[in-house]
Amino acid sequence: MTATTDSTHAAYFALRDRLLGELRTTVLSGEQLCEAGRLIYGRPDGLSLYGIPAPDMAAGGITLLGRTTIECSVDSYTAPVADALARLQAGTPPEGPDADTPIVVDLFCGSGNFGYHLGRRLLRPVHAAELDPDVFETTANNLDRIGSAISLHLVDYRDLLGKLPARSSHDTYVVEPPWGPAFTADGLDLTRTSPPVPEILDDIRRSRNGLPCYVAIKTNDQIARDSLDRSFAGWLHLQSVTPAAALPYGANMDFHLYRLGPGADG
Ligand SMILES: C[S@@+](CC[C@H](N)C(=O)[O-])C[C@H]1O[C@@H](n2cnc3c(N)ncnc32)[C@H](O)[C@@H]1O
Repeated sequence: MTATTDSTHAAYFALRDRLLGELRTTVLSGEQLCEAGRLIYGRPDGLSLYGIPAPDMAAGGITLLGRTTIECSVDSYTAPVADALARLQAGTPPEGPDADTPIVVDLFCGSGNFGYHLGRRLLRPVHAAELDPDVFETTANNLDRIGSAISLHLVDYRDLLGKLPARSSHDTYVVEPPWGPAFTADGLDLTRTSPPVPEILDDIRRSRNGLPCYVAIKTNDQIARDSLDRSFAGWLHLQSVTPAAALPYGANMDFHLYRLGPGADG
């Protein structure tokens, strides 16, 4: 690693620690959002949610807490994932009791931006769960500002799963739990997120009554202990989407699409 990438890495991790620590539930200023965009994505407008880049958020009434600023999946990452999913689903006829009216379920919604893009691209209703009341309130305000129809619930993801019976084999779940201690020097260990990814996938599977579905998940670009493949044992890997890297290896993000059902051994 060069001296420049070394200092970029250090600045990123220092910011990450502040956003998940002292600024966790603080509403960031416009200046702080632009600085976060620069350090995380290489430029201020790299931090962009609901189609609104950081420099325009304050004027648009969009607010972000420190934790959501670092945890969110930004527009330039989620829009290509939504395109990939649309292409994949277009090749598979939907089945199920409400085959033609599938839903998107954003189980750990944070800003709600992932569900927002999937809902728009796939033209589906979106249901979202968020357990942190501060995040919930901020996101509810943001969704209101942009006129989004996402149905946002202040609940544990398991309660939302319990309220949403399987409708269609095109139902799609976004799985982005907090990483916490899962983010180690050896990479991201998906069996240590809170809750662990294998547990969340079991909960989804149980809620499906045998009907297939899709899952989208974000990881970083370094997976520890083969934990992605181990977590998705019995699911069919469809595609991974790798955004252009802005940070050194180990700090960037990847997205993965999986399917439960025929073709998988689940
Ligand atoms: C990594 S962030 C998700 C980021 C989100 N995808 C975005 O684009 O902003 C995880 C979120 O899940 C919430 N959360 C944690 N445990 C949860 C649970 N059991 N049920 C629902 N939400 C939960 C956290 O409060 C946090 O906002």
